[in-house]
Amino acid sequence: MNRQKSVKDYIRTIVDFPHEGILFRDVTTLFADARGFRICVDQLLSPYAGIPIDKVVGLEARGFILGGAVAHQLTTGFVPIRKKGKLPGAVISQAYALEYGEAVMEIHDDAIRPGERVLIVDDLLATGGTASAAIELCRRLGAEVVGAAFVIDLPELGGRQVIEALGVEVHALCE
Ligand code: PRP
Ligand code: ADE
Repeated sequence: MNRQKSVKDYIRTIVDFPHEGILFRDVTTLFADARGFRICVDQLLSPYAGIPIDKVVGLEARGFILGGAVAHQLTTGFVPIRKKGKLPGAVISQAYALEYGEAVMEIHDDAIRPGERVLIVDDLLATGGTASAAIELCRRLGAEVVGAAFVIDLPELGGRQVIEALGVEVHALCE
């Protein structure tokens, strides 16, 4: 019997990108499909129905695409967390480790007001380094992080445990 495609069915895997040994989970094929993108955004939102959220925080780069759509649907503001040197205003910075390398993330120092409730959105949770840095940045601005939503969780890399240990609930659409 035919079944409707799930979010996972729209994601393709690129072998050895950006380095040998990495199986890169490519969500561009999910975003490019009208139904795929619609069900993805709807499923990212669904756990937060009725929960007050002031701002959606999207993580560079694919978290901008998802976070923008989620913020529009929730009628909240959108705040980008970017790689070092990209934001034009005054920033605070946080270093973090990646599955393959190291980086620094930044947020505008006036992007979130103390006490605001924020939802963090990104495409993929691997080691949790990126999302941990984002949580730290939001908390340094006085935000309450109400959740972290991802399309993909790579469970063998342990990111969920890292984020939950910070007291933030993780929601992922597939593994
Ligand atoms: C990917 C992904 C997450 C992060 C997850 O971004 O979009 O942001 O890695 O990995 P982690 O849980 O181990 O931190 P990437 O660093 O490739 O940046 P890009 O979106 O700018 O390409
Ligand atoms: N970010 C970190 N690990 C990744 C992977 N395996 N696929 C896509 N993005 C990633």
